[in-house]
Amino acid sequence: MPSALVPDTTSQKPTVLIIDDEAAPRAALTQILKQDFHILTAENAHAALAVLNGHGVDLVTLDLKLPDRSGSDLLTDIKRAHAEIEVIMVTAYGSLQTAMDCIRHGAAGFLLKPFNASELLAISLQTAQKKQRLDQLRPILANSTALWGPEPACTKAWESLVADYASRNRKGSPSASQSEETSPLVPLISDLLEAKDRHLLNHGSRVSFYSTLVANRLSLPLAEQQSLALGALVHDLDLLSTQNRHALNGESDQQTHRPDIGARMGRAMGLSADAVQIIALHHERWDGTGFPFGLQEERTPLLARIVGIAQAFDDLTAEKPERTALPVDEALEQIEQQAGTAFDPTLTELFCRIMREQPPQS
Ligand SMILES: [Fe+2]
Repeated sequence: MPSALVPDTTSQKPTVLIIDDEAAPRAALTQILKQDFHILTAENAHAALAVLNGHGVDLVTLDLKLPDRSGSDLLTDIKRAHAEIEVIMVTAYGSLQTAMDCIRHGAAGFLLKPFNASELLAISLQTAQKKQRLDQLRPILANSTALWGPEPACTKAWESLVADYASRNRKGSPSASQSEETSPLVPLISDLLEAKDRHLLNHGSRVSFYSTLVANRLSLPLAEQQSLALGALVHDLDLLSTQNRHALNGESDQQTHRPDIGARMGRAMGLSADAVQIIALHHERWDGTGFPFGLQEERTPLLARIVGIAQAFDDLTAEKPERTALPVDEALEQIEQQAGTAFDPTLTELFCRIMREQPPQS
């Protein structure tokens, strides 16, 4: 069955590579992690890259200061060559900002020296478990055509994937006590987006956050706010299905986006009708020149209009490998210039006011 998850591998210990030039932290990390992980160590970046190329490594703990390379540069190299390996930065208080920057560049978390043993073990285990979940999803995304294919195979494939994921991750997880305000699909959706490309998850999460700020200000009913938060998170769901990576770079054209496919996937996985509409219609424009239907003005539903603005703003302000991010003020000016053409003028005014009141951290 194309969407079935691979056999359980929880009985196998994950492998961690500890990269640190000092013997004492290497020994401390080894001591704390050795019961739950296979341990490999490296004293510098050169040795670390050799180990990574020769062994199956799941997790790296990476000291920010190395003799032959900065930890943040080595992080970039690791993520470029081995995107699936999870990296936890190790740092002292003085370099906290650098560690935060590393998270924006793909690190899964950071640990502060001196180590708190239980915290270190908890973060390492959680990160290794996430990697295992993503490793189960990656081959499905690479090989399944049914998940974004025609009905009825699409719905069957999603039902199977949702059920497999739920049963596999139920044990030991807090999902049973999950808040009623959060869809039970959010963990799976988040993992799928991250398994495809962590930028997709980050983009969706920020667009969801910006959209929620607008919804709060409009005092939308709770059910609509929930659909908006979820629909904004998955608005680019179609990109799970395509090999074309241009769309990840913010090009919202008809060649790179297939909102009809995204909407079909959303329906098949059981999203609300409002969330599916967001996926289907957030590329429409106020003046009727958008796609896929060329809907004009308020014919595009409110929630999709909000997401259209929020995602355009994030495309302008998010850091991208090939393009410098615009400062918030400049991005808002660009959004305002498109009020009445691309965007609903009233919503644009509200969105820009909210963003100027509480600008996002860059
Ligand atoms: Fe988007």
